[in-house]
Amino acid sequence: MNIILLGPPGAGKGTQAELLVANRGMVQLSTGDMLRAEKNAGTDLGNRIKTVMDAGELVSDEIVSSLIDENLKRLRPDQGVIFDGYPRTAAQAGSLDELLAANGRKLDRVVELEVDEDALVERIVGRYTCAKCGAGYHDKFKQPKVAGTCDVCGSHDFKRRADDNEETVRTRMAEYRGKTAPIIPIYEARGILIRVDGMADIDHVSAAIAAALDE
Ligand code: AP5
Ligand code: MG
Ligand code: ZN
Repeated sequence: MNIILLGPPGAGKGTQAELLVANRGMVQLSTGDMLRAEKNAGTDLGNRIKTVMDAGELVSDEIVSSLIDENLKRLRPDQGVIFDGYPRTAAQAGSLDELLAANGRKLDRVVELEVDEDALVERIVGRYTCAKCGAGYHDKFKQPKVAGTCDVCGSHDFKRRADDNEETVRTRMAEYRGKTAPIIPIYEARGILIRVDGMADIDHVSAAIAAALDE
């Protein structure tokens, strides 16, 4: 099964992708994670995109689609994919259709996480991840079982994203509203769009997604 997780910054795409990976053995392809890896590694590409990402604006369609292309080619045909944070523009949606077809895959479902924008800033400024394994946490909504220790790998090192501040979040939301939300009707017209209430707690959102995927 190949699915897209759609929703504004802080909607819970990464959180739900992590659960789908754990529960269903799917593979998460997050363009945000790929771009951050380039940025942190200080590659040529990373240096070119740093300013754009830190400002909360979208990186070019060509760059993100070629990252997806590279990663998709490496997967085995039986591995289901969760696209997290891609596509984000009409041009990317078109590229994804082509890349899936070239890899003998089809898009089964698009899950839109519906959220209240006012809650997103709180989610984003409280977010942090394990510096070693990438597991996601939140100061209030998802604390590690033992304070200061990652549930998954036991590391005590955590980090926060450079673009997780209130000002940049507003730009990211505007980018979502202007460029990404307009692609939702494409999937609705194909009859593969599922809307899930992203304001419920994490386990309820996960259960709603699971129920929709199993229909
Ligand atoms: P990206 O990394 O994709 O960021 P984003 O879309 O802004 O989304 P986030 O990762 O912030 O939110 P999320 O939905 O994953 O939420 P999470 O699960 O972490 O992109 C970053 C940047 O890269 C972009 O701005 C752009 O510059 C560039 N980029 C990436 N892809 C691109 C593309 N395709 N084209 C062009 N540019 C691209 O949850 C947030 C927090 O809330 C967590 O702490 C979590 O624990 C908590 N939480 C989650 N669910 C719940 C819940 N139900 N209740 C309470 N708390 C919750
Ligand atoms: Mg994310
Ligand atoms: Zn960890």
